[in-house]
Amino acid sequence: MKLIKGGMLVLPDGLVRGDVVLDGAKVARIAASIEATDADEVVDASGCWVFPGFIDAHTHMQCWTGMDWTADSFETGTRAAACGGTTTIVDYATQDKGMTLAEALKEWHSRADGTCTSNYAFHMAMADWNERTRAEVDDMFDAGIVSFKTYFAYDHLRLDDAQTLEVLESIKDRGGILCVHCENGTLVNELQCRTLARGVTGPEGHPMSRPDVCEAEAISRLCYLAELSGARINIVHLSTALGLEAIRDAKARGVDVAVESCPQYLLLDDTRYLEPGFEGAKYVMSPPLRKPHDVAVLRQAVCDGEIDTLATDHCAFNLKGQKDRGVGDFTRIPNGGPGVEHRPALIMTSFADALGPQDFCRLMSENPAKVFGMYPRKGVLAEGADADVCVWDPNCRWTIQAATQHQNVDYTPYEGFEAQGRAKYVFVNGVLVARDGEPTGEKPGSYVSR
Ligand code: URP
Ligand code: ZN
Ligand code: ZN
Repeated sequence: MKLIKGGMLVLPDGLVRGDVVLDGAKVARIAASIEATDADEVVDASGCWVFPGFIDAHTHMQCWTGMDWTADSFETGTRAAACGGTTTIVDYATQDKGMTLAEALKEWHSRADGTCTSNYAFHMAMADWNERTRAEVDDMFDAGIVSFKTYFAYDHLRLDDAQTLEVLESIKDRGGILCVHCENGTLVNELQCRTLARGVTGPEGHPMSRPDVCEAEAISRLCYLAELSGARINIVHLSTALGLEAIRDAKARGVDVAVESCPQYLLLDDTRYLEPGFEGAKYVMSPPLRKPHDVAVLRQAVCDGEIDTLATDHCAFNLKGQKDRGVGDFTRIPNGGPGVEHRPALIMTSFADALGPQDFCRLMSENPAKVFGMYPRKGVLAEGADADVCVWDPNCRWTIQAATQHQNVDYTPYEGFEAQGRAKYVFVNGVLVARDGEPTGEKPGSYVSR
């Protein structure tokens, strides 16, 4: 048994000074003061906040994205996640064209099983919608998958509106939720051609070819499809003020919509694409970084409770050897960036003046667990819950640097960021996996069947 002693516990009712006992893979006891008599190990949490482990519900580990393999494997990505305080990721298992969902799921298990430091669950991304795929949806629920994904952009992945409607109808009865990449792919393709034809070939062409209307139109369309079907949807990586307006309209009509955003859309803006040389490629992700106005509006939406979850869309590619294949043609830069290690520190630092520990808990642990069917097993510090715990030192000051990160990639979009607060001790299934931001080498991560 492990005793976490003297921390400020982040509980649903408030902050309470107390102790927590982990017995095997479960939280066994929570009380104001617990004697150390039976504990094999006592962890000093004085001066720290004790959170239920953070959940990152949007990652792409060890994945072929149409242009290249992502740089982080499940092994390196979940180790980096754990170093930052994230104890569970929900990764996008992805069906390629011609593949069955069962094959995709088997493939994702073969990549992840036995290699993970943090726990992992899978959403099922569907790129080949047909009768055979439809017939497999029930099997996915039986295999512990309650969330699905479709794309409105990327030619090798996207479904049309009728197919998206059918997906929504097929998951509704069993309470599934559909996560959708909302960009109008037809429009993006056309604007990419026009941007290149004007002679704009560098990373600055990326945001020009994916303006905010591409996102807002797709969000609006998805919300109407959800309305037709009555199914639940999750708007992933919301990046624009215009998209938020479409969501507000849909909510006012009673559409059941959850909203995710990511640190990159809350901390960075599109001036990054103007960095010298090819440096702007670091920020080539879809949707792109937006205008300062969008950043300000989304930050306010986070504070106002309009954003349910904060995830990363961790999809790492090296600048050298991967992104640089797009020199001379921004459409050939692999889309995506890293973040799984740094999300809790980025959010807690940059929202320190506006939000407190309970808000951080809600956005990065409780709500992801609730939206994606893991609550109250995860997402809450409670007796009987899984022993995924992050002991957070809010006073630790440190600097985010590629040179010292654990993400397996040669840069970070947050180089030089002065962070306030760091994961001091991180437990996954009751096992200490990281201390002061460094991994212990343990790999207790297991599949979370939901
Ligand atoms: O650029 C990104 N975000 N790549 C990952 C796939 C996606 O769109 O979520
Ligand atoms: Zn996406
Ligand atoms: Zn993604």
